[in-house]
Parts: sequence; structure tokens; C-alpha cells
Amino acid sequence: MAAATFNIWQADLMDGANFDLKEEIRDYWSKRSKTFDLAFGHKIAPGAEADAWQKPIRAALGLQPKQVLELACGTGEVTQLIHDLGHDVTALDFSEAMLAVARRKHAGKARLRFLLADAEHTMEPDEAYDAIVCRHLVWTLTRPEETFREWFRLLKPGGHLVIFDGDWAQPKPGGRIAMMLIALIDRICGADRNYDGALSSRHARIMEALPFGDGLHADVLAPILETVGFAEIELQSHSPIAKAQRKNANLRNKLRTFVYGRFILVCTRPTT
Ligand SMILES: C[S@@+](CC[C@H](N)C(=O)[O-])C[C@H]1O[C@@H](n2cnc3c(N)ncnc32)[C@H](O)[C@@H]1O
Repeated sequence: MAAATFNIWQADLMDGANFDLKEEIRDYWSKRSKTFDLAFGHKIAPGAEADAWQKPIRAALGLQPKQVLELACGTGEVTQLIHDLGHDVTALDFSEAMLAVARRKHAGKARLRFLLADAEHTMEPDEAYDAIVCRHLVWTLTRPEETFREWFRLLKPGGHLVIFDGDWAQPKPGGRIAMMLIALIDRICGADRNYDGALSSRHARIMEALPFGDGLHADVLAPILETVGFAEIELQSHSPIAKAQRKNANLRNKLRTFVYGRFILVCTRPTT
């Protein structure tokens, strides 16, 4: 299927007040697109780690093939998992550079459509999808409540939203110890150049301007989702994924899995 074009007209539809911030976010991710898969936690290893990420998606979506919208697909790592489960996937991102990496990775797949669009204002039709999946997008939304209304609109009644995210603003209790050990390894072995981008001052500046800039927590998210109409809101643990990631990781990356609090949140657009 052909990719859509992100044109000026569509960019104008992004909220004017947020335009600079969104451009900043888009530019930030575009610049990270080439090395994104090299930074720990992004690329999903086949086997135990892929299974661990797939499990909550499979549980929410069931076994029958569905129409799935993946928001902020980035380099297409989660895209692969959803597609492998047999679903038709529309994988959306607003960074052309990120999409270019994903397109190369998934060339020739018939059940996969890439879409250059804003996840906060997709321009997709009402009730077009059985499910929406996103990993590491919600923390960076500039207008969370309006965006969740948009996602509600896109889902068919009975459709599911699966959110993988975390609090990237501050480490969880005990996470500081892991951070100190990582800093020690950095001093002894040299810094991990592929990880620097995520910690840059630019990242920190963007965080400061975001509604969830002080950190994203499931207990803050759940009432907002409820307000826009989502039901059956279920919080799931990220621990099985972290455990699987640790299996083949070096010490520094094993430690990284302990730094930030992560969660999986699944909810449903009610049928009535
Ligand atoms: C941390 S990366 C996550 C990529 C992918 N979901 C993953 O987990 O591998 C964040 C992605 O969100 C995209 N993004 C951020 N805000 C967006 C928006 N409003 N609309 C579409 N994409 C967005 C960025 O371009 C980037 O590809």
C-alpha cells in the first residue's frame, strides 16, 4: 500500500500553539532515526523478548486477524510483532526519517501500510480500527486528553487500546543505584555512545515543555482515559519484558532495565 504524504496542509492542522514543540519533537526523533535501533531497549530481540512484548498484545487482541493502528511506529520494531501475530497493520509516525528506516526493514509486506501523520490528529476515519497499539508515545503527547478522544474516535466499539510506556523523568526507587553503577561503568569503560542521544540536554528541554514532563504514571493516565470514555482499564506489569531483556544484555544494559518505572495499560472503547 502506498505511503501518504505529510504535507504543509496537514502540518497546519497541528495545534498552532504546539507547533514549535511538535516540530522540535519531530526533529529530535528524526535525528535519532539512524542510531535508534542501536540504543538498548529499542530493538526487540527475537525469541524471549519478542514473546514478552507480544504477550499483552495477543491477550488484548485475540487470535483472529484484526485491523490495527500502531501509533508512533518509529523504526518498526513493534510493527514487526503486531504483523507477526497475523494482523493488518497501519504503522503511523510523523517523522519521515523514522518511517524510512521502518519501510526498509519491512519492504514488501502486504498486510502493512505506513502512514506519515500526527498521532494527535491522524485524519483517519471514525471507527476504522479494532485496536490501537503504541510504545513510548504517550509521554511525549502535547495534548493528552484531546489525543485520547481522537484515539477513541478511531476505534470500533469494543476495540482496544494498548499502551506501553513509562516515567522517563525520574528513576524509580532503587533506580538511582542502577544509574550510579551505569555511570561507574561509563567512567571505566567509556560512555555508551548509542545511548547518549536519549540523555541529551535537548531531550531534557523537550521534557520540560510536555504535559507529562514531570513523569508519566499509570494512575494519572487512567482517569484521563476514563474521562474520554474508555473502560475496562487494566494495568499490567512490564517486569516480564524487562526480565526477558536482561537475558542477553551486558551488565550496563541489564542495569538500565532497573532505572525507570514502566507499565502496560490496556483499555477498551465500550460497545454502548
Ligand atoms: C521513543 S520513539 C518510539 C518508537 C517506537 N514506538 C518504538 O517503541 O520503537 C518515539 C516515536 O514517536 C514518534 N512521535 C512522537 N510524537 C508523535 C506524534 N505526535 N505523531 C506521530 N509520531 C510521533 C517519533 O517520531 C518517534 O518515532
